[in-house]
Amino acid sequence: MAKRIDVSGLTAYYGAHKAIEDISMTIEPRSVTAFIGPSGCGKSTFLRTLNRMHEVTPGGRVEGKVLLDAEDLYGAGVDPVSVRREVGMVFQRPNPFPTMSIFDNVAAGLRLNGVTKKSELNDVVEKSLKGANLWNEVKDRLNKPGAGLSGGQQQRLCIARAIAVEPKVLLMDEPCSALDPISTLAIEDLIGELKERFTIVIVTHNMQQAARVSDRTAFFNLAGVGQPGRLIEIDDTERIFSNPSVQATEDYISGRFG
Ligand SMILES: Nc1ncnc2c1ncn2[C@@H]1O[C@H](COP(=O)(O)OP(=O)(O)O)[C@@H](O)[C@H]1O
Ligand SMILES: [Mg+2]
Repeated sequence: MAKRIDVSGLTAYYGAHKAIEDISMTIEPRSVTAFIGPSGCGKSTFLRTLNRMHEVTPGGRVEGKVLLDAEDLYGAGVDPVSVRREVGMVFQRPNPFPTMSIFDNVAAGLRLNGVTKKSELNDVVEKSLKGANLWNEVKDRLNKPGAGLSGGQQQRLCIARAIAVEPKVLLMDEPCSALDPISTLAIEDLIGELKERFTIVIVTHNMQQAARVSDRTAFFNLAGVGQPGRLIEIDDTERIFSNPSVQATEDYISGRFG
């Protein structure tokens, strides 16, 4: 099967500090891949190299290759803004645009892409809010501020905003860590639905969540303080949680460190 994402030899720095080293992996379309590993092992850094957000940090630099549908995201002449349109991102803290209405939050990306037709905006906003399982809760108050929603609703609003521009890939960095258990389950259910249409990569510190939502799990670790994070293994989630190939993975998932 064609790879949606194909990373080879990826190393990322913050100035002189090498945060992650020599990471290679492939990700299939319409799958959920979970990144797990102890704090500081570079999960967020690696995630941000997949849509060229790492280089936005001062001193942020990348070596190696990231192919999206066989095209090198770091190739000469590739526009990072168009990369971020194809590879969307949802953050740990829901971050709706605070001064914008629910409608305008979801329409923001389309408007940036030059869509002005009201009927088209209406259609996409409705479809995206439905896709994020939020439509029924907000359809009567689309002109109210997005910031007035609960945390769980705000996170689904951010997901609606991300999917409105039809990205190929959706990156999520601990999207539930600021949410209560019910909102967390709502997001997990949603991830199961969204993978029919999108390729999803999720960072989570919650083992049960990784086991519940993902098809594949990647375990990252670092050899010691100041050492770069590395990919230890990536495999089917079932296998990682029942019979991983590497002892360190087993130790981590059974709670012996991290
Ligand atoms: N903005 C930054 N500037 C400098 N170093 C950073 C920055 N963000 C992360 N790092 C460093 O990169 C390494 C990996 O961090 P991170 O990707 O946040 O790990 P994780 O998400 O697995 O907790 C850590 O050593 C961290 O201190
Ligand atoms: Mg992180």
